[in-house]
Parts: sequence; C-alpha cells; structure tokens
Amino acid sequence: MNGESAVQIVPSVLPADFARLGEEVAELEAAGVDKIQWDVMDGRFVPNLTFGPDVIAASRKHASVPFEAHLMVVEPDELLPKYIEAGCELVIVHVEACTHLHKTLAGIREAGAKAGAALNPATPLDTVRHVLDLLDMVLVMTVNPGFGGQAYISTMEPKIAEAAAMIEASGHRIDLEVDGGIGPKTVAGAAAAGARVLVAGSALYKHEDGLEAAVTEIRTNAEKAIAQAGG
Ligand code: DX5
Repeated sequence: MNGESAVQIVPSVLPADFARLGEEVAELEAAGVDKIQWDVMDGRFVPNLTFGPDVIAASRKHASVPFEAHLMVVEPDELLPKYIEAGCELVIVHVEACTHLHKTLAGIREAGAKAGAALNPATPLDTVRHVLDLLDMVLVMTVNPGFGGQAYISTMEPKIAEAAAMIEASGHRIDLEVDGGIGPKTVAGAAAAGARVLVAGSALYKHEDGLEAAVTEIRTNAEKAIAQAGG
C-alpha cells in the first residue's frame, strides 16, 4: 500500500508485452502500483484465453508487490490451487461460475490465500450477501469481462455504492474493487461511489506520459473524488 493513499492502484497486465512479462511487472512496480492483477481467461467463461499458472510463477520473482488472480473461468475449483502455488496471494472467482460459492471461498482461505468474489455487471449483490464472512474482496465489474480497452459502464456506480454500504454494515474488512474502463476520466465516479481498489489496463499503458504518470493521475483523481464525497 502506497503511504497513506486511500486507494490501491492495480494494473491489469493484459495490455503488456507478453514477450517480456518479467520486465513488465518490474516496470509496473517501479511506477508505484500497489498490486498486480492477472486476468486469467479460459476461452469458455469469456471468449479469450490468457495466463496459465506457469506464466505467473515465472514472473513472480521479478516484482515484490502482491499478485492477485482474477479467474474468469468456468471451473475455478480445479485451477485455483495452481494460482496460489504460482504466487497469487488473492484469488478472485466469478460468482456466476461457482455452484458452491461458500465452499469455493472457504477452500481458497484454507489453501492460505485471500478470497475475492467478482460480479458481472448484470449480477445482483445478493449473490454475495450471505458469504461476506468468507470474503477479503468484492469486485464489481465495470465492463463485461473478456477484453481490455472497453468503455466504462457508469450505470454500475449505484451498485458500487450499494456494495460499499453492504460491506460497511457487515463489519467485515472487505476491499471493494472495480475493474474495466477505469482511467483518469472515469475513476472519480467509481471512487466517489465507494471503490478503493482500482484496476486499470489500457489507461496505464496508453497514457501519453507513461506508466508512472498514469498511476499518479488515477490515484490523485480518485483521492480528490473521495475527499469531495466526504470520504
Ligand atoms: C476484462 C478484465 C480487465 C481489463 C481491464 O475482462 O477483467 O482487467 O483487462 O482493462 P481496461 O482497463 O483496459 O478496461
């Protein structure tokens, strides 16, 4: 966590140069990010295919910031132990892919990792209301998962605010993350609604002044929005 910042900036490595992932994660760390998110896609839950656990394990020694695995897969129970072994301290599963969500989340914690639940834009928050005691992270998707570079869905902001209130009322220490279309222009709405962990992909890699400037601008815009919202 960066000093006293109220937010965490978490890059998605989806836009990175896959031929030099080790250097890429080191450059992200040098740019001041708080964690790194690996978008794991199986070609079934979403129409895209990305990182096996070995790719993440090979990159682990090139940075010391925590890794999280965002599993966009239809059978997370099968795969999640391998991502924990590969060095991910947090594993996020999609509630839409978990028939036995309570069991899956408990399994992640029993395996020594932190547990997160991701919700697609149309998925109601009630899906996690009864497992908050097993969660370290709730991820409200602000795009339909599968690809980087999509437009931010601002109609998710009331859902983000509802999630923040639900977490507050539960008394549990649960981070609230958003992912999809987050950048200098969109982060204020998500942060003012209650998001504190901010995943960004294309906005970091496409920033005209480079990674560090992008991280700083997103962090500053989020902190300003939180202050203005009285947070
Ligand atoms: C989409 C992924 C996101 C995506 C973010 O399914 O979960 O992490 O890579 O990329 P941007 O910030 O470009 O939307």
